[in-house]
Amino acid sequence: MAELVDSEHSRVAFVTGAGQGLGKAIGLALAQAGHSVVFADIDADRAEAAAGDVGPAALGVSVDVRDRASVEAAAERARNRFGPIGILVNNAARTVAQPFAQLTETEWDDVFAVNLRGILLTTQTMVPDMVDAGWGRIINLSSLAGQRGGPQVQGAHYASSKAAIIGLSRYIAHEYASYGITANVIAPGPILTEATALAPKDKLDLLASQIPVGRFGAARDVGALACHLASTAGAFITGATMDINGGLQMR
Ligand SMILES: NC(=O)c1ccc[n+]([C@@H]2O[C@H](COP(=O)([O-])OP(=O)(O)OC[C@H]3O[C@@H](n4cnc5c(N)ncnc54)[C@H](O)[C@@H]3O)[C@@H](O)[C@H]2O)c1
Repeated sequence: MAELVDSEHSRVAFVTGAGQGLGKAIGLALAQAGHSVVFADIDADRAEAAAGDVGPAALGVSVDVRDRASVEAAAERARNRFGPIGILVNNAARTVAQPFAQLTETEWDDVFAVNLRGILLTTQTMVPDMVDAGWGRIINLSSLAGQRGGPQVQGAHYASSKAAIIGLSRYIAHEYASYGITANVIAPGPILTEATALAPKDKLDLLASQIPVGRFGAARDVGALACHLASTAGAFITGATMDINGGLQMR
């Protein structure tokens, strides 16, 4: 799907939560497509290790997406190394699986701070680079949980924040469309990552049997989709929510 970019179309990509899982896979895919990639994560060691797997075209930085000063410092490190940021992938997220009745305000607020406020802060910090360039790509990770809700996924705070990401992305898409900037959502269903692999095998097998394609997604499936949205070929896709769920939800 994603074409290799030539140097004229090589951009600087900033991927949050890129120390592991989907963020790391998206960063690797963008690097393979010829972009310079900043692997940003609250776990600095993992961010640096992920960047180390790529080589000099990558940089690992520590960032806490909840905190404006931290986001600004990480963006500055990225610019100093590679130049203005053209692709922003908001992938960092967290949750604590909790039944609705036991959800505390602290957990609610923190999940929203990472999953939603993080997108506000990174986008406000990096979109001026894209406006100056007249070109930009913003890709936000939602979830099937944000589309369907449901108790089987990681709690009401997670599902609500992931639903809100779709609304926020559409808002950003509208506001910046005339600057050559697209903003889109990737909504994955079950993808096999370090985190999901921790679930008991019988639970994983049962879930896989319910997915029409008969398996979990692979992180590289999500990386390929992100590359397409980030490419010049993706210019006419904006405000969209791209389902990548093996047919688990069709709409
Ligand atoms: N894996 C799946 O099946 C799946 C399904 C649907 C949606 N998603 C979404 O895809 C994205 C990645 O999922 P994953 O499974 O790779 O998650 P993960 O938990 O493995 O990775 C999330 C990363 O975000 C980082 N992070 C957490 N808080 C942070 C903060 N405050 N600042 C910066 N970084 C922070 C973590 O250190 C971690 O490296 C998430 O947005 C998730 O909601 C994943």
